[in-house]
Amino acid sequence: MTLTDQEKQALVDLANTARERAYIPYSKYPVGSSLRTKSGRIFTGVNIENAAYPQTMCAERVAMFKAVSEGEKEFEVITVVTDNGGSPCGGCRQVMAEFGLDTIVILADKQGRIVKETSVKELLPGAFTPEQLIK
Ligand code: THU
Repeated sequence: MTLTDQEKQALVDLANTARERAYIPYSKYPVGSSLRTKSGRIFTGVNIENAAYPQTMCAERVAMFKAVSEGEKEFEVITVVTDNGGSPCGGCRQVMAEFGLDTIVILADKQGRIVKETSVKELLPGAFTPEQLIK
């Protein structure tokens, strides 16, 4: 399925709006994410911090886990919106890789401007994938 510029922007805008719901008392760095599944469903996520800092959950993982918990494991595109167009952390790249190396990843800034369009395989070359566990 191809993604139009309008569809990309709509997904970025959804993630940017979701950022308002980020729970970020410590970092004050709101992150919003949205994804579209291959079946066409859309999920959003925000970062959720914790007073015990390592228990913080990133926005992308919230979006992916919401989707998986609703029975969706094939992602066409994932967006990540931060103040400055920041890039997904290593842990989120690994979780993305679990569900497909070809997923498109779109990074955008607080103005909703797309700063980079890439893919999971480009973000995590040499990823450890489920296939490697097959004996
Ligand atoms: N964060 C994300 O939500 N996604 C990432 O890929 C990078 C970092 C969050 C975690 C924390 O709440 C804040 O950004 C600062 O690290």
